[in-house]
Amino acid sequence: MEQDVTLDSENRQAAAAPRPADGRAPRKVFVKTYGCQMNVYDSQRMADALAPQGYESAATPEEADLVLLNTCHIREKAAEKVYSELGRIRQIKEARARAGRDTVIGIAGCVAQAEGSEILRRAPAVDLVVGPQTYHRLPAILSRVAAGEKVVETEHAVEDKFEHLPAGPRRAVAARGVTAFLTVQEGCDKFCTFCVVPYTRGAEVSRPVAQIVAEAERLAAAGVREVTLLGQNVNAWHGAGPDGRAWGLGELLFRLAAVPGLDRLRYTTSHPRDMDDALIAAHRDLDCLMPYLHLPVQAGSDRILKAMNRRHTAADYLRLIERIRAARPDIALSGDFIVGFPGETEADFEATMQLVRTIGYAQAFSFKYSPRPGTPGAELDGHVAEPVKAERLQRLQALLGEQQRAFAEATVGKRIDVLLEKPGRHEGQRVGRSPWLQPVIVDEKAGEIGDIVKVRITEAGANSLFSQPCA
Ligand code: 5AD
Ligand code: SF4
Repeated sequence: MEQDVTLDSENRQAAAAPRPADGRAPRKVFVKTYGCQMNVYDSQRMADALAPQGYESAATPEEADLVLLNTCHIREKAAEKVYSELGRIRQIKEARARAGRDTVIGIAGCVAQAEGSEILRRAPAVDLVVGPQTYHRLPAILSRVAAGEKVVETEHAVEDKFEHLPAGPRRAVAARGVTAFLTVQEGCDKFCTFCVVPYTRGAEVSRPVAQIVAEAERLAAAGVREVTLLGQNVNAWHGAGPDGRAWGLGELLFRLAAVPGLDRLRYTTSHPRDMDDALIAAHRDLDCLMPYLHLPVQAGSDRILKAMNRRHTAADYLRLIERIRAARPDIALSGDFIVGFPGETEADFEATMQLVRTIGYAQAFSFKYSPRPGTPGAELDGHVAEPVKAERLQRLQALLGEQQRAFAEATVGKRIDVLLEKPGRHEGQRVGRSPWLQPVIVDEKAGEIGDIVKVRITEAGANSLFSQPCA
């Protein structure tokens, strides 16, 4: 997955848990999620898979019978962070054991996939290691753990994991609010030379149309108004449409636009090579497809793009953006950038800065290159010194920060639609999202959570916009 917005966030899962059939008190699960939205989605699905086993969500690891760390391996030190977190969880496990309570510790996600049984060797307190393709087997894995086994399941299963994941009880869906993620595609065949995703998430797999539509309908029926389609390379999604023709993401979006109750659609993350005509047409024709596109370019120098195996040039990307902007003039662009890829010279870096100046981003994520073991990039000559990477990152982030502020400022005075998502931090306020994904503070009198209301933007703060209801 290319976008990475919730690093280290703790996502408390609201799994509706029926009381176990044997009448025991419900057990509790604490899921800590690292990394991308795909992991957030997977954590929810794990909670869903565990709900029928009598697991309900725990607010803290101290009160959890099962602690799952859903890990990320995209950049450096991810595995180290997991091991240090495990030290803390082990102490909790020991304290609970002294009080006569068992704790099962599980590692899920991309570190689980990459490290496998190495985790059990380094952290003996861990009971199970489960890769992203095998979450549907969690209940069976937990039974084996209960019988005293340590379990490592990291194969890329041949069966369809999506088929096996329960849809989730409606109550659990509703508890998640008015926006939801929906995974439509997983894995990646692009093999950018810096990236571990093709190794940890495996080959590209698309979910069938009927499954996706059914899940979207279920979400809409549970009160969800906005769905973000997820995939590591979401615009590579493909499937057979009900008309028997081959569908791409564009056709799928047209179909989902017809689901009653779904007012807003988004998707992430995309690769420039897979932005086809139908997808661009969807941006032109579908009002419910929000005018925001996360389309990472990574670098602005053709030499570096080639070394990264991105399979496009800077000019290809610029032409593509021109076509997308022609189709949807108000579209806001977001991107990912890597500085200090092996061999990157000052001139290469300047080409990235120049591309950013030409495009103008509303939002961006930028990183120092971090060699990932097993990827071709790590084997290249010409690794860039750490202080040089840090200095380039600082310059790039200053420019991107300026653009982000300018974009926010440009919304001041405009009348825009905001989907109200949750109560605000202060009395009398609600927080919603603009079509361009900006948080907007709205007077609660403007409407209820789940409403899309018209407001006028009065001020752009550092992280959110302030507004007045429109008469
Ligand atoms: N080093 C630095 N950044 C990376 N990303 C992916 N792999 C690496 C790496 N090895 C960044 C890319 C990607 C985002 C999710 O993380 O910019 O789009
Ligand atoms: Fe990684 Fe490239 Fe695939 Fe994105 S497209 S997940 S950066 S290999």
